[in-house]
Amino acid sequence: MAADISSIVAGPSSPELAAGIAKHLGAKLVSAELRVFSDGESKIRLTASIGKKCAVVQSAYPPTDTHLLQAMMMIKKCADDGAEVCAVIPYLAYARQDRAFLEGESVSVALVAKLLAAAGAKSVVTVDIHSEAALAFFSSITNVSSMPLLAAHAASLKLKDALVVSPDTGGIPRAQQFARLLKTDMTALKKSRDRTTGEVTVEQRIDMDVSGRDAILIDDMISSGGSIVKAAEVLRKNGAGKIYAMCAHALLIGDAASKIAAAGVQEIIATNSIPGRHAKVDLSKALAEAVRKALLL
Ligand code: R5P
Repeated sequence: MAADISSIVAGPSSPELAAGIAKHLGAKLVSAELRVFSDGESKIRLTASIGKKCAVVQSAYPPTDTHLLQAMMMIKKCADDGAEVCAVIPYLAYARQDRAFLEGESVSVALVAKLLAAAGAKSVVTVDIHSEAALAFFSSITNVSSMPLLAAHAASLKLKDALVVSPDTGGIPRAQQFARLLKTDMTALKKSRDRTTGEVTVEQRIDMDVSGRDAILIDDMISSGGSIVKAAEVLRKNGAGKIYAMCAHALLIGDAASKIAAAGVQEIIATNSIPGRHAKVDLSKALAEAVRKALLL
């Protein structure tokens, strides 16, 4: 592919992932120079010209709003320069708010979809979006599953009688897929969350014998760590062996990682949708393929 036809713009939140995608596609890598003013405003300058088609890579992990707005700035600049733009937002913030759970709430993901389109994104590529329902707000979106990559990593861990566990019933389809890929079985815990306080409760009883079995807790994201901590406690009480926490997006806000370790979790394994020491599974090839299809490269 000629480098002057397509470019990958490396947003400030995802420079390494962007470089990996560009390498897989043989596309030109364009870095984005960021300046943050004293009031917190970002100013972004693309350091090279963009071709006819480009992908802007910017995961929207915290500072969520800042990373999203920076994505819009880069998308708009590329669109203004006449490029067809694909927005690659591996962690798509606000996907949890896909409906008004309480009266008066705003459906934030609907707004995010509109803003990305208004900025000039013709298509969006994301990873393990929290809610399938959120996909409906986008006119063209590819939701890449990281489960095959995470399952391949899990297979290398040499687990004892591995059992896949979803921390909640909403994650059953994901855990079923993961268990199929690992050629083992799964179960789901029964979690509830107080919509006002955010407090998580997990039923202590598990509907199968987990004693002596190594468990993989699989989730789309780990944020405060509350869900994984409660789930690990239940697994330990029920006699599980080693416990691993795997997810697409390791947000791990505040001291989440140490709380998870204190709850008896051996290791946290995530993709590089969010950079950091838990980002052990590389998404760049899978994202490059999605970009190739979205931009018809
Ligand atoms: C919930 O439905 C999600 O799949 C995750 O379990 C949840 O968002 C994780 O959040 P936290 O780590 O704050 O419990």
